[in-house]
Amino acid sequence: GKVGVLFGGSSAEREVSLMSGTGVLQALQSKGVDAHGFDPGQRTLAELAAEKFDRVFIALHGRYGEDGSIQGALELLGVPYTGSGVMASSVGMDKITTKILWLAEGLPTPRYAVLDARSDLAQVAADLGLPLIVKPPHEGSTIGITKVGETAAFQAAYDAAAALDDAVLAEEFVTGREFTVAVLGGGAGARALPVVEIVAPEGNYDYQNKYFTDDTKYFCPAVLDAAITAEMQRIAVAAYRAVGCEGWGRVDVLLREADNKPFLLEVNTSPGMTGHSLVPMAARAEGVSYEDLCVEILRSARL
Ligand code: DAL
Ligand code: MG
Repeated sequence: GKVGVLFGGSSAEREVSLMSGTGVLQALQSKGVDAHGFDPGQRTLAELAAEKFDRVFIALHGRYGEDGSIQGALELLGVPYTGSGVMASSVGMDKITTKILWLAEGLPTPRYAVLDARSDLAQVAADLGLPLIVKPPHEGSTIGITKVGETAAFQAAYDAAAALDDAVLAEEFVTGREFTVAVLGGGAGARALPVVEIVAPEGNYDYQNKYFTDDTKYFCPAVLDAAITAEMQRIAVAAYRAVGCEGWGRVDVLLREADNKPFLLEVNTSPGMTGHSLVPMAARAEGVSYEDLCVEILRSARL
């Protein structure tokens, strides 16, 4: 049937999505799939309906693409789509709600505070300790995130996040190594791919170092004790299932240096599929090519 690859969109991660979607579109076409690109950032829902796609691969990131909005539209149009449904997509796009669910399930995630304009930042800094991390809770690709090393810098970090979002998240800084775990499937069938370790220059895995420099080093499978690897994969799958994710996703994890305890940072329900991206890297470590991964994700599309 006719397949749509949705990419571009109107979020702050549009540029990333253009890279992801270009890769996915070419991969599906190379496998003989009748795939067509569609950019909901430039075209209307009426045009999407008129395309009469039999199924779509969502290669959108961020707001309106990863947060349940487009998923809801596709439900209404009756078009099967890849990845998580409406609820898991919107929970996964909200780092605060995600943490609340994980904590309810007894899963480890860094301590945090939700800030507004009246918050006592000095008190929050005292509670969480310094450095701490300030994030807009509904963005991706590190956009709007600041590491605050001293109380004097907290207000500017708050303002930068508040400019992008209607809430601001402050999170305890966990000193340690950075990992990510790709998960495929859903429900009891959800399974983790090999763990990826990310070693960014000066620990700064920001937008540039994610997509544009070659300064970040990746290790896959990560060089880790087998028991720690298994624990990281176990909590990643539990975290994915707690949010109700389906199809595919990627859970970001920190491993605390002091005691090798893993902490869950967030789940990405429409992870990057760029040339630098991590789900394709993890699949390759299992012998699954980028093209075959795209076909496998497409096959899992549902309503
Ligand atoms: N938000 C980006 C696309 C990722 O998590 O891969
Ligand atoms: Mg993210």
